[in-house]
Amino acid sequence: MSSVRFLTGITTSGTPHLGNYVGSIRPSVRASQTPGVESYYFLADYHALIKIDDPARIQRSTLEIAASWLAAGLDPEKVTFYRQSDIPEIPELTWLLTCVTGKGALNRAHAYKAAVDKNLATAQDPDMDVNAGLFMYPVLMGADILMFNAHKVPVGRDQIQHIEMARDMAHSFNHRYGEHFVPPQAVIEESVATLPGLDGRKMSKSYDNTIPLFASREQLKKLIAGIVTDSRAPGEPKEAEGSALFQIYQAFASEEETQILRQDYAKGIAWADAKQRLFERIDLEIAPMRETYHSLMNDPNRVEAILLAGAEKARKISAPFAARLRHAVGLRSLVTSEVAVKKVAKSSMASFKQYREKDGKFYFKLVDASGDLLLQSLGFDSPKVAGQSIALLQQQGLGALEALAGQLEPLGSDHQEAVAAALAGMARDEK
Ligand code: TRP
Repeated sequence: MSSVRFLTGITTSGTPHLGNYVGSIRPSVRASQTPGVESYYFLADYHALIKIDDPARIQRSTLEIAASWLAAGLDPEKVTFYRQSDIPEIPELTWLLTCVTGKGALNRAHAYKAAVDKNLATAQDPDMDVNAGLFMYPVLMGADILMFNAHKVPVGRDQIQHIEMARDMAHSFNHRYGEHFVPPQAVIEESVATLPGLDGRKMSKSYDNTIPLFASREQLKKLIAGIVTDSRAPGEPKEAEGSALFQIYQAFASEEETQILRQDYAKGIAWADAKQRLFERIDLEIAPMRETYHSLMNDPNRVEAILLAGAEKARKISAPFAARLRHAVGLRSLVTSEVAVKKVAKSSMASFKQYREKDGKFYFKLVDASGDLLLQSLGFDSPKVAGQSIALLQQQGLGALEALAGQLEPLGSDHQEAVAAALAGMARDEK
């Protein structure tokens, strides 16, 4: 049963704030609990290097973000939660995609173009202080997505162009080398409003107007006291529309609670009382997570172990897939014959067939999309044992052959790579 794959990355360049929580962490954790959805969440630490050259800050941010997602309820058993730099196939795929991406397309990418335009506006060299990492950013992001053939990528509006570029990369690669990649789609959460910050503009690190997600109760209270309001006195009716305080409240409160605050605004609630209500409402949701967060922050070993386990899970997919991609572009053994190459090409959509012969025994075979035989079993006394052997092949690929010696017909040398590719393709569809 194949399911819809969701994937998103979080750049490890800062400390999570309430805007990240409402806009990304909370909806993602909820989505990951939906049946039929396979989720990939990762810490985009290679991306962070584009902006940050402070190693301690990268490390600290990686821990803070990982701890935040886990504290918010992400279940690493249900999703694949990993650190980008633990997956060596991602930079490898970045290069393969670099070679099918037009330089012109990268010239037009928003983040790079904005940096160039800023230089031009001040009559500087257009590429002053622009590192090539910023220029290549969309390709690294394309590799993140295509490595796991994600169908849906939940992102903010500013990232739509990057997803479109990833689609183009998928198409250009597929066009040259056969169908390997699923063109991904951006998912924009319309219902999740962007959260205003302390000064009423969008909450963002770059405006320095954020409320850290795991501020202490005291800090939280103090920061909320600093949210901009107008100068209306207690008793004077107040506008809910355009009130940053109201919008933040709405992002945490139920519909009824929001209605009540709206009425109280009309009745002239004092700003101090409205702030107190906001504080209590946010703290109600965050306080239980705050404890988990601090216990994780104090136990980096545990977070590290979770990320490494996630990487292991991710690499079960990325390692065989990268092997297939290398093969596809021609980075392959010199003794691979033309016949073997054709077989690999046809091996996607391969499937197992189980059947019973006149001798009363149970058999299985692996056939490719056009029905050609890739792998043939000997006879089993029970269908259950035959099924177990199939499962082992699906889980371990060619690695299972040794354990299954004596159960299979010998594998011809022209078939080896095709069988490996077919099994790698299955492991991902089967999940
Ligand atoms: N560029 C994204 C951001 O800053 C983070 C990111 C990196 C990402 N790789 C990704 C998001 C892949 C989605 C998919 O928000």
